[in-house]
Amino acid sequence: MRKIAHALIAAVLAAAAKAQSCSTPSYPAPSLAAGYVARLVTSDLQDPRGIKFDAKGALLVVESGHGVTALNLDYAANGCISVSSKKSVVADSSLNHGIEVSSNGTYLYASSSEAAYRWQYSALNQTVSARETLVTNMSNTDHTTRTLLLSRYAPDLLVVSRGSTSNIDPLAENVHSGHAQIRAFNLSALNGPYDFVSSGTLLAWGVRNDVGVDEDPATGKVYSVENGVDQMTRDGVDIHNTNPSEELNFLGYLNGTYSFNEGRNFGYPQCYTAWDVATIPHFSGRVGQQFAIGQVNASNSDVMCSEKYKQQARLGFHPHMAPLDILFNDAGDAAWVTFHGSWDSVVPVGKLEAAIPVAMNVI
Ligand SMILES: *[C@@H]1O[C@H](CO)[C@@H](O)[C@H](O)[C@H]1NC(C)=O
Ligand SMILES: *[C@@H]1O[C@H](CO)[C@@H](O)[C@H](O)[C@H]1NC(C)=O
Ligand SMILES: *[C@@H]1O[C@H](CO)[C@@H](O)[C@H](O)[C@H]1NC(C)=O
Ligand SMILES: *[C@@H]1O[C@H](CO)[C@@H](O)[C@H](O)[C@H]1NC(C)=O
Ligand SMILES: *[C@@H]1O[C@H](CO)[C@@H](O)[C@H](O)[C@H]1NC(C)=O
Ligand SMILES: *[C@@H]1O[C@H](CO)[C@@H](O)[C@H](O)[C@H]1NC(C)=O
Repeated sequence: MRKIAHALIAAVLAAAAKAQSCSTPSYPAPSLAAGYVARLVTSDLQDPRGIKFDAKGALLVVESGHGVTALNLDYAANGCISVSSKKSVVADSSLNHGIEVSSNGTYLYASSSEAAYRWQYSALNQTVSARETLVTNMSNTDHTTRTLLLSRYAPDLLVVSRGSTSNIDPLAENVHSGHAQIRAFNLSALNGPYDFVSSGTLLAWGVRNDVGVDEDPATGKVYSVENGVDQMTRDGVDIHNTNPSEELNFLGYLNGTYSFNEGRNFGYPQCYTAWDVATIPHFSGRVGQQFAIGQVNASNSDVMCSEKYKQQARLGFHPHMAPLDILFNDAGDAAWVTFHGSWDSVVPVGKLEAAIPVAMNVI
């Protein structure tokens, strides 16, 4: 997956009023499933990544390399949405993706490649207090976003997702490297910044680049969406166009309920989820099972990638769709996944938003 190049935000809403002369994007408008409308909210942003509403309904946007901006929105009677005014809340060029707001709206959280921070936030004034550092020691190249999630089920905890340092990162094989891991940190027990590598609760390791993380509000189950490896080969054959799957991973619960999945290795960098089994040499497994990358031998085998040794994905998506976020609705009966679409496929794939109904028993 690669960075988002575009500076636009489109809001997708359940069908309400019919579109009437709202602003339109300069590129072809997204095509939508029946029952949905899309509204262009603004194109006046620089590398927007995470978005969150504050307690007064302003939209907080983290602009990568710039900081956090509050957009005050105007909802017109004809259904159009526009920005009536905006204000820079935090100017910090190190911020790049993650953003959260505490449930009562009094804290703003954001992240750089190296650290997770928080500020006391006034939604009334759109101002912040001095910055407090929560988690450090996360710097690495390549996969530099640090997605943040606050749990409803365990309000003390901040979940941080850290990616790998390259397409295939050998250091991620060592749990003590801190690479390609998702960890949870107890903010109520904060006593100076946590070291990502040596503290917190390990929710998952062997997760290459899980940019989207969310908690199902109905069950407390935590899921992430993972960007799989590029340029994949197996026994000398290039299989990258249709393998491996991007993944939806189930990580367990944050409220203390036991899950077999919690803290397990999810496969990376040795094991990946099969999509197009017909192209994988010497593979006898099924779609959705993990298999070994590269040259297969006694120590690098599909047995090593089985459920006994590696946590399997809950669901696979088409290779290179590049999922960048997952968000449950309040009822917890569907999750939305946004896909960036990828460079690493001869046929363009992804660049869409999909709803995964919980009723399908997928999640
Ligand atoms: C908001 O929640 C924080 C914990 O996240 C707590 O410290 C603070 O007292 C709460 N503030 C109000 C006004 O409820
Ligand atoms: C908001 O601004 C007003 C007016 O400047 C000030 O009196 C108040 O203390 C501010 N509140 C917060 C929470 O920053
Ligand atoms: C930061 O993480 C590295 C492993 O990546 C570890 O060796 C080092 O001790 C950590 N540094 C600090 C200051 O904790
Ligand atoms: C977080 O730390 C506080 C204070 O030590 C403790 O009371 C609480 O149980 C911890 N929460 C979790 C989820 O571990
Ligand atoms: C965690 O939340 C789930 C869903 O509400 C509940 O069934 C479970 O009992 C909770 N676990 C603990 C340890 O509180
Ligand atoms: C097995 O393959 C892996 C990766 O393809 C390689 O690193 C390792 O040296 C090989 N082991 C043997 C015993 O050939």
